[in-house]
Order: sequence, then structure tokens, then C-alpha cells
Amino acid sequence: MGFFTVKVALCCVVVLLLGAFSDAQLDNSFYKDTCPKVHSIVREVLRNVSKSDPRILASLIRLHFHDCFVQGCDASILLNNTDTIASEQFALPNNNSIRGLDVVNQIKTAVESACPGIVSCADILALAAEISSVLAHGPDWKVPLGRRDSLTANQTLALQNLPGPTFTLDELKAAFLKQGLNTTDLVALSGAHTIGRAQCRFFVDRLYNFSGTNNPDPTLNTTLLQTLRVICPNGGPGTTLTNLDQTTPDTFDSTYFSNLQSQNGVLQSDQELFSTSGADTIAIVNSFSSNQTLFYENFKASMIKMSIIGVLTGTQGEVRTQCNFVNGASSSFTALATKESTEDGMVSSI
Ligand code: HEM
Repeated sequence: MGFFTVKVALCCVVVLLLGAFSDAQLDNSFYKDTCPKVHSIVREVLRNVSKSDPRILASLIRLHFHDCFVQGCDASILLNNTDTIASEQFALPNNNSIRGLDVVNQIKTAVESACPGIVSCADILALAAEISSVLAHGPDWKVPLGRRDSLTANQTLALQNLPGPTFTLDELKAAFLKQGLNTTDLVALSGAHTIGRAQCRFFVDRLYNFSGTNNPDPTLNTTLLQTLRVICPNGGPGTTLTNLDQTTPDTFDSTYFSNLQSQNGVLQSDQELFSTSGADTIAIVNSFSSNQTLFYENFKASMIKMSIIGVLTGTQGEVRTQCNFVNGASSSFTALATKESTEDGMVSSI
């Protein structure tokens, strides 16, 4: 047996051991040695893009949420339509609604040029969400890292799992429970609607014909009703935008919750949290409204909880070279070559 064969055999043993011992644990300092600048690279891209497009911060927080609720936080939402992939991007809750795919690619390009083949697209989504919160003057938190990217997407599951704006409180709770998220997580995470926009088509029923009554939603503040009727005329274009938080639209604060207290929630799913009679969510809305620090603490904890749903780790999935496509034959060869050289380092250090 030649030296090369022994070396290859050793590599295989290491690969097997790595596979056996890799667990689902993520780690805040996952890229400490392999891509120490990843956080600042993502921040710089977002800082620049947000100067001309402040809404991008909201869009990226939402993109992470829509990734995590569909087969886990595995960047499946980023996969484009191909012969073998039915893209989640065209599922009803995402189609003509999610934004930021181009900015994720911009981040990926910048990260790849600093540390090729190291940082997953799923981790980029999680980091971008946290940095977006900070840039919108919201809370910061340590993002657990080490996710890997999926080899598949699931358009059907996107339709099934992503909650809709006309959901009742029970339906919202069920959608979150399915992901292992409780009622407090639901209220805290809905607080992300303290920034960003919504298209008329997602709430226009509340303005003219709520639940087939031919009347507006009684839980919608009458002044806001008049305002929204001007922005969204009956039968008008469903794509016109309005602010989800009508008070401080681009600042990540607790006014989303005080808005709910004055029936100024834009989506039915927002107002449900406060206006469902006897609901356990009312007290939570009240506490977040009166104590922004408490909202931040809960938002941070719930974002971390959401960000680890169904993650791929260790040798599962892959680190995509291009976020919109699984690695092809040529790029998986590159990934293998990178892996082998890393393992060489490990073998010699034992
Ligand atoms: C509770 C159930 C939820 C429902 C029914 C819901 C629904 C929606 C809808 C309909 C929009 C407007 C989209 C458009 O007009 O194109 C929206 C926007 C948004 N959602 Fe949610 N959402 C929910 C929970 C969440 C969660 C958990 C997060 C993040 C943690 C989130 C973050 C956002 C953000 C930041 C925006 C603004 C996006 C932008 O301006 O591009 N949402 N949501």
C-alpha cells in the first residue's frame, strides 16, 4: 500500500468520524478561524444597501422567517426553479412579495471572495436578519452559526407552513406550534412588523368587506380605516404599499404593540393578537407595549429559537457556491478539494 493510499484511507476514516460525531449544535464562533470577518462583511453590504433602500432591513428579516418555516433554516427559499427544483419563491405567500434575494447574492459574493466555500447561505440569512435588526435600531444577539444549505426546496410546504394575513389567532398559534414556537414566540416575532411594508392585497378585505360582511373589520381603528381606504381604493391595484407600523415605520421599536392597543394593526393577523376576546396574547401585547426592553429580550430569544429550526449541520447538505442553485458537478468537485485539504490539516495536527 503506497503512502497516497494510506493517506486517502485516513481521510476516509476522518470523514466517517466527522459524520458520526457531527451533532445539531450550532456555535456563535463557528467561523472564528475560517472566516473571522463574515459578520463585518455582511454588515458593510447591508449598511450600504440600506442607505438607498431602508426597507431592505425588513425584507431580510422576513426572508429568514420564510426560510425557517419551510423544512428548517436551510436556505431552501433561495433555490431558483430548475428541472429538479420547484422554487419556494413562487409559493403564494412568497410570490411577488419576498424581497432581498439579490442582496443575499451580493453578500454571498463578498463573503466568497474573502473565504471561498466556507459560509453557508443559510447562515448568511440568519446573520443578515440580526444585522438588519441592529441597523434598524433594534436589538442585537449572538447568532448561532454552522448551518448548511439544503439540496432541495419544497414549494408545497411553503404554502402549507407560512401563516397568512387573514389567519385567526388559533390558526396563527397552530402554525407556530408546528415549528416548535409557543404563544410568546408568536407575539414577540410578530413584533418584526414594527418595520417594513405591506401590499394592499393583504388587508384590503378589512377595509370594505370583512369576512363577507360588506362592512369593514370592526377591530380596525376608524381613522386608520379612512387613511387606508385612500391608499387602497376598492378594486384598485393590490400592490400599493403601506407601512406596517404607521407610527415609526423604519424604526425597530415597541410601537407595533401600542398600535395594536389602539386598533392600528394593519394586518388582521396583527390585530388578532390584541382584539381576540379573552386571548392570552393580550397580556403579552400589553407587556411588550409598556416595556420595550422586555420586547427586545423576548424578540432576541425567539429569533434564536426560530433560527435553529430544522437546521442541517456537520456533513448534511452542503455549502452552496451560489445561493440560488445546489452545487453542480464542477462546484462539488471544488468543495471536495477544499474539504480534503482541511482534513489534511486535521490529520497532521493529531
Ligand atoms: C404571525 C404571522 C405572520 C403573518 C401572517 C405575516 C404576514 C405578512 C405579510 C402579509 C406581509 C406583507 C408582505 C407584502 O406585502 O408583500 C408581511 C411583511 C413582513 N413580515 Fe410578516 N407575517 C407574520 C410573521 C412574521 C414574522 C415571524 C416575521 C419575522 C420575524 C415577519 C416579518 C415581516 C417583515 C419584516 C415584513 C415587512 C417586509 C418588507 O417590507 O419587505 N413576519 N408579513
